[in-house]
Amino acid sequence: MSEQTKFILGENEIPKTYYNIVSDMVAKNIPLPPPLHPATLQPVTPDDLAPLFPQSLIAQEVTAEPEVEIPEPVREIYKLYRPTPLIRAHRLEKMLDTPAHIYYKYEGASPAGSHKLNTAVAQVFFNKQENVKKLSTETGAGQWGSALAMACNFFDMECQVYMVKISYEQKPYRRVLMGTYGARVTPSPSTETQSGRAILEKDPDSLGSLGIAISEAVEVAATSGGKIKYSLGSVLNHVLLHQTIIGKEARKQMEMAGEDPDVVIGCVGGGSNFSGMAFPFLQSKIRGESKTRFLAVEPTATPSLTRGRYVYDFGDTGEMTPLVKMYTLGHTFVPAGIHAGGLRYHGMAPLLCSLYDNDYIEAVAYPQNTVFEAAVMFARAEGIVAAPESAHAIRSAIDEALDARKKGERRVILFNLSGHGHFDLSAYEQYLAGSLQDYAYPTEAIEQALSLLPRVEAQAAD
Ligand SMILES: Cc1ncc(COP(=O)(O)O)c(C=O)c1O
Repeated sequence: MSEQTKFILGENEIPKTYYNIVSDMVAKNIPLPPPLHPATLQPVTPDDLAPLFPQSLIAQEVTAEPEVEIPEPVREIYKLYRPTPLIRAHRLEKMLDTPAHIYYKYEGASPAGSHKLNTAVAQVFFNKQENVKKLSTETGAGQWGSALAMACNFFDMECQVYMVKISYEQKPYRRVLMGTYGARVTPSPSTETQSGRAILEKDPDSLGSLGIAISEAVEVAATSGGKIKYSLGSVLNHVLLHQTIIGKEARKQMEMAGEDPDVVIGCVGGGSNFSGMAFPFLQSKIRGESKTRFLAVEPTATPSLTRGRYVYDFGDTGEMTPLVKMYTLGHTFVPAGIHAGGLRYHGMAPLLCSLYDNDYIEAVAYPQNTVFEAAVMFARAEGIVAAPESAHAIRSAIDEALDARKKGERRVILFNLSGHGHFDLSAYEQYLAGSLQDYAYPTEAIEQALSLLPRVEAQAAD
């Protein structure tokens, strides 16, 4: 065991491949329910996805190869901030008076502020290779939009971002950042698309949701006659694949520290930062070589894993995407305006959901006041002001450390600090003023949204 604080890898140690957990899931017969075409209810074909994504990303979406190469130009851009540091939270351990060892991987070191740049750079690169000139996307808190805007700028690509209206209002500086990188940002729901107009007709004061913003961004690509492609910051297999660079580095860094995590923690919105950190460690668990626990942390305001249903549902509110089998609160679900905008999504990545359904992963939900309490403790101990999303992982790591103290256990805790919160200070301001509200989504509202799930034969058998 080392008393070292920072575990740093050299640029030459940036991984050369992404890890594809699908290969280990196939080997172990862990189910991989296919996405279905919403009209035919048959598994989608690469042709169905072609209007939205370039061929190379479609191939990554369906591959079962164990490793996927990271192209050299992508690794060159990663050098701006990767490998990210792994830090032992000595001062937090002391503050908590815990025998636990707490480590965090700091993805907020990316110039865009979060892990999202890992997939943004890769996605823009693969689109560029196929001559795409413009990408459309949605963003919740603005982290994904900032990352895609930066990556598009690096590869000289136009970028259109639909930003969930509540976040557009709560986080004006994120918009400015996206504009600085050259992106066009529109609050969603907007009047620019059919799906946005339909929502506004029903509810002119709609705060928006990721589901709605996805519909707008997908519509723009799908109706562009091939000129614009769509880019998603989470949920899809290829996005999770790109994020495994986090866990691959972290495995090496934990080896440097001479420790093996007993528990790996990450917050979950669509599931990409958690999966990116967890999957390279989960590989050993799937192979029966490790007993590490994996803990996905969500807000009580969007409790898709802890209170949702494992069924086929649309990825968006406007019913434009394929149906995917996931833990969902229903695609019509519009969450309360919590500050962790990036966690306000009704569903969850299908790969993560299958692993959760098969008990490889646990989940827990927290209301936002206790999350901010943890974030403030962390800032005072470690100096980093975390993104409200990432603060969910901090809450859970602290609770694991306190539980270890109660049980007198030496527990090794590893969590992903997915982003910094420098643009989220108004949320901190509200917490410090005592005016932050907790939300637990009411059971009736979840039941109502679930009653509008699409009819898929298989669901009747559930
Ligand atoms: C800092 C940060 N962490 C986590 C998330 C949640 O997304 P995911 O579950 O895909 O990592 C977001 C989403 O915007 C985010 O900005």
